[in-house]
Amino acid sequence: MANIETDPLLRPHQPLTGKTVLLGVSGGIAAYKAADLASNLVQLGADVHVLMTKTATTFIAPGTFAALTQNEVHDNVLERWHRGFTGHITLAHSADAFIVAPATANTIANLALGLASEIIGTTALSTQAPLLIAPAMEHAMFHHPATQEHLATLVARGATIIGPEPGRLASGEWGDGRLSPVADLTGAVRNAVGRSGALAGKRIVVTAGGTHETLDPVRFLGNGSSGRMGYAIAQAAMDLGADVTLISGPTALQMPYGVQAVPVVSAQEMYDAVHAALPTAGGIVMTAAVADFRPATSSTTKIKKTAGTDTMSLELAKNPDIIGSLKDEALVKIGFAAETNDHIANGQTKLEAKGLDMVVVNDAVAAIGARTNQATIITRGHEPEALPLMTKEHLAAEIASRLAGMLATR
Ligand code: CTP
Repeated sequence: MANIETDPLLRPHQPLTGKTVLLGVSGGIAAYKAADLASNLVQLGADVHVLMTKTATTFIAPGTFAALTQNEVHDNVLERWHRGFTGHITLAHSADAFIVAPATANTIANLALGLASEIIGTTALSTQAPLLIAPAMEHAMFHHPATQEHLATLVARGATIIGPEPGRLASGEWGDGRLSPVADLTGAVRNAVGRSGALAGKRIVVTAGGTHETLDPVRFLGNGSSGRMGYAIAQAAMDLGADVTLISGPTALQMPYGVQAVPVVSAQEMYDAVHAALPTAGGIVMTAAVADFRPATSSTTKIKKTAGTDTMSLELAKNPDIIGSLKDEALVKIGFAAETNDHIANGQTKLEAKGLDMVVVNDAVAAIGARTNQATIITRGHEPEALPLMTKEHLAAEIASRLAGMLATR
């Protein structure tokens, strides 16, 4: 029996294991949200070191970050050196990414001008790590030419700016200036850390979710696919540095930050979107649960019950086979096979019939909508390889890494 206490594959995936992330917190009211960001990054496996301006410590106590990160918080540019720790120099050299969230107008100005009066500026001057800046401030300050020029300077130097978002600001006014959602900031850090990964420079197309086939203006034929497997693969490919196009049927999920999102509804729309996205792609992973059939006709008005009739028949027309229609030999094609019986034999048939490089076979009933998946990998010329039960995020990382291996030999 699988046990989350003893089996790390059933716990959340930690793609930032072994990575050092610096989190600069400057003094705005959104500083409290940085605690959530620190926690998220730690849960993803990162070694997080928090750097605070003096003003930030009036909004949130350093002890909060010390507890969340299990690391000392740095708020003093003249901090003592001890036992191999040389202040901002040590932090700067060990960093895989440096995110400043929230970044106030003052801190942005300091970064643009290269000022070193606070530890965030000092460390930014000393590091080669990707710099991510998440502005949060009053909208007039954000739109002021001084702030805009500073941001443009930072972008020209290679920094990534995330947000801000429009909405209600702390003053009660409305405008641009809210800190981007923590999920976006976390995603931006993942993508920055992955930049030089095994899929760097590759474009990958991922399809996800189920398709909806319209029956009438308020009804459709669909399935219970959550989209979770495909979204996890899109993120896992970005963790390895890929540019990802995620073509998704309707789901309740948030698009991963940094993905090129192509929302679709029907199988035909997914077919068109896949063909439009392919010319620059090195690989495709089709996790989508594409409807094999659609209503032969869809009604423009709501279908009504007919008095005295207890049954209703629908005529269905076959949808195109999307992955089977891709003939480019150089493209790495990974399909999924969701089966209820004869899993391996059906997976092998799909590998051949659709001309795929790899098929991930799983049990349709157990996998659909679930958090975990037990898959078997089928490739040409190899015995089927049964993987242990694991979260969809762990399986996604496994598939992304195999995809990188296959692309490297093309
Ligand atoms: N697929 C596709 N286009 C379709 C149907 C499926 O590209 N019209 C893809 C799926 O995304 C998956 C693979 O083909 O990667 C296998 O899908 P699956 O539904 O298991 O198989 P089908 O080909 O639909 O066969 P069947 O439903 O008869 O098992």
